[in-house]
Amino acid sequence: MEAAMKAITYERFGGPERLRYEEIAKPAPAEGEILVRVRAASVNPLDWHLLRGKPRLIRLSADVKGHRPMRPGRDVAGTIEAVGPNVNGLRVGDDVFGAAQGAFAEYLCGHESSFIAKPPTISFEDAAATPIAGLTALQALRDSGRLRAGQNVLINGAAGGVGTFAVQIARTMGAEVTAVCSASSAPCVEQLGADRIIDYRSEDFTADAGRYDLVVDLIGNHSFGRLKRILAPDGRVAAVGGGSGAYRLGRWLLRTLAAAAASRLTRRRVVMTVSRLDGEDLAYLGELIASGRVRPVIDRRFPLAEVAEAMRYLGAGHARGKVVIIA
Ligand SMILES: NC(=O)c1ccc[n+]([C@@H]2O[C@H](COP(=O)([O-])OP(=O)(O)OC[C@H]3O[C@@H](n4cnc5c(N)ncnc54)[C@H](OP(=O)(O)O)[C@@H]3O)[C@@H](O)[C@H]2O)c1
Repeated sequence: MEAAMKAITYERFGGPERLRYEEIAKPAPAEGEILVRVRAASVNPLDWHLLRGKPRLIRLSADVKGHRPMRPGRDVAGTIEAVGPNVNGLRVGDDVFGAAQGAFAEYLCGHESSFIAKPPTISFEDAAATPIAGLTALQALRDSGRLRAGQNVLINGAAGGVGTFAVQIARTMGAEVTAVCSASSAPCVEQLGADRIIDYRSEDFTADAGRYDLVVDLIGNHSFGRLKRILAPDGRVAAVGGGSGAYRLGRWLLRTLAAAAASRLTRRRVVMTVSRLDGEDLAYLGELIASGRVRPVIDRRFPLAEVAEAMRYLGAGHARGKVVIIA
């Protein structure tokens, strides 16, 4: 008889009510792949977009090779249970973390290049919280933003999954950090090392003309004209995310591409961050966490059977740090 496992699946794009917790065939690793026993996974806005299937272009990525049912979840940490042919770097029994499709399940298969060894002192939950949010924060600050020690960075959306990493990583880079979040998130963000906090409900941070070398925008609720106004000469906006509530991504993407193109010939640049799964960067994040310089912030934990609840919670737009699934 074919081995089975519990997994979250969906047949049609839509809201969290489409998600089913069911028994499906346990996968077997193909060439270059590892089979991971999932210990923890985490939820990202990307999972929300892939579930909604909006903008429509994103369906190509959710619906890999037209397979049904679709399998949500990307960020994952677990233990290798089997390896396929030609897997060279990782072995059965290794604890790993990374990102691959179908993380909201007891098992998943992914290419070995999508994973790295988990440092033994990091918990599975912290490891699962890190890949997409941590890599996005690091790459927005370092690559899109070219942040250097002593510079001033403002992080709009500092209390969320990416923001809580960005505040801490910017501090490790020696920057002065201004964090924009609600008053209720302020104590958490302050603990992460923010030098200054702006409550977006009572203060408009775009009034501070000429102050920042870098604005990391995770919310997209101000025009790029206003964001550029608060930049120092040669400053940059790293445009990471936008939309509101249900994350209306399509309109934000068009607006950002236009602003980035228009800014190419100006001193104050808008750069769109598109994060990538990079093993060296993930290993660097692992070192920062293992050494205690960065701490993944976990807001809530949900069992695998309650992924729909976890998605609803994230989709409401006020998660404080990461939402983790325990498999
Ligand atoms: N470009 C890429 O490669 C990439 C990669 C990852 C993520 N993203 C995008 O980046 C964005 C952030 O991702 P995430 O994982 O951090 O999302 P998230 O965890 O869902 O963000 C939630 C946070 O947003 C804050 N927030 C809500 N409204 C705000 C406002 N008006 N001003 C300031 N903060 C506000 C909330 O803080 P309060 O509770 O304090 O209100 C909450 O802590 C998303 O749009 C996502 O799609 C892009």
